[in-house]
Amino acid sequence: METTTRELKVRPGPGREYPILIGNGILRKLPEHIRRISGSCRVLVVTDKNVGRFHLKPVMKNLSGAGIDAEAEELPVGERYKNFGSYQKIVRRLAGLDDARDLIVVAFGGGVVGDLAGFAAATYRRGIPLIQAPTTLLACVDSSVGGKTGFDLPQGKNLVGSFYQPNLVLIDLDTLKTLPAHEFQSGMAEVIKYGLILDERFFARLEREIVMLPAHDSAPLAAAVERCCAIKAKVVGRDERDTKGVRAMLNFGHTFAHAIEAACGYATYSHGEAVAVGMICAAELSARSGYLKSNDLERIERLIEKAGLPNKIKGSTADELIEYMQRDKKTRTGKLRFILLERIGRAFVSDAPPLKDIRAVLKKRIVSF
Ligand SMILES: NC(=O)c1ccc[n+]([C@@H]2O[C@H](COP(=O)([O-])OP(=O)(O)OC[C@H]3O[C@@H](n4cnc5c(N)ncnc54)[C@H](O)[C@@H]3O)[C@@H](O)[C@H]2O)c1
Ligand SMILES: [Zn+2]
Repeated sequence: METTTRELKVRPGPGREYPILIGNGILRKLPEHIRRISGSCRVLVVTDKNVGRFHLKPVMKNLSGAGIDAEAEELPVGERYKNFGSYQKIVRRLAGLDDARDLIVVAFGGGVVGDLAGFAAATYRRGIPLIQAPTTLLACVDSSVGGKTGFDLPQGKNLVGSFYQPNLVLIDLDTLKTLPAHEFQSGMAEVIKYGLILDERFFARLEREIVMLPAHDSAPLAAAVERCCAIKAKVVGRDERDTKGVRAMLNFGHTFAHAIEAACGYATYSHGEAVAVGMICAAELSARSGYLKSNDLERIERLIEKAGLPNKIKGSTADELIEYMQRDKKTRTGKLRFILLERIGRAFVSDAPPLKDIRAVLKKRIVSF
């Protein structure tokens, strides 16, 4: 189904801007967008085997029908493959395609594909054009916008990477219809996060509409994706390289979440589920620190529950979680750093919440079984 296309601009720095297009069926316009970048080019569509199975054929057919010389690289699925091997595959493939024409990368997949293909585009010949075409809710509202690219090393996540903005972000909501329900739900945690840190009105809208979001062709979904992208674009515009403490707000709930993912096992909690519990912990810590009102805390818990996301921690202890937090790369200064809420829609960075409060917040969420 083709509906109206929503358009936003990201302005990461003076004189630089790129559009985000959001709509149903808009991937069909990919050839036009490619032509606008270059009249004479070869294209590498990078995807993974899941997305490939559902969506690659029509995309490749459409490109070749438009006379565009395009090939596809289908990577194996999952975070485990966001590694040096996959990066090498992409850049070697690019080298094989390289001739007198321009080379363009299309990152067609979730955050794993987006980060890998983005980094390959950033580094091949010191930078070639990139189109981000995200296919998970998380990638639509978060990873495809803002230019963070890279891959993991055995020593840690995202250790190799760069900032590299795409020429265009093309969000076709129709691709989300094949996304497994738990992946959609996982992305919903990040959607809620935007309301919590920067937009009280959006949070209130989610309170009314969250159950309608999973329909891939619903107006509430398109509106929510647009709002999240607008917030992310604003944050990136103020702090492209994550050095001014503005982009750090996007880590709301994530200090807790990373510890929960690591301590409870990545199979127990998806990233979004861990973020959901993490956001409740961060909200609770904000209340304990004398900022967030108890009524707001209840609203946050209710919305997370309504989204079907978890609010309990199973399979770890407070001490273990604190140990993981202290090992987190963001604590190199020796202090635990948290994003707290003054109220719904206003976040700030706090360097020193007392350990006893962190422990109390965790204990309240942990269930033993
Ligand atoms: N660059 C950034 O700013 C940024 C921000 C947040 C997260 N990330 C990164 O994003 C990654 C997580 O992204 P993700 O959650 O999209 O994970 P993912 O890319 O692994 O996708 C999740 C799963 O959904 C499948 N999938 C994707 N689209 C599908 C579709 N339309 N239909 C059916 N299946 C589909 C994938 O094959 C995979 O199994 C992490 O590596 C994280 O570090 C980056
Ligand atoms: Zn996240």
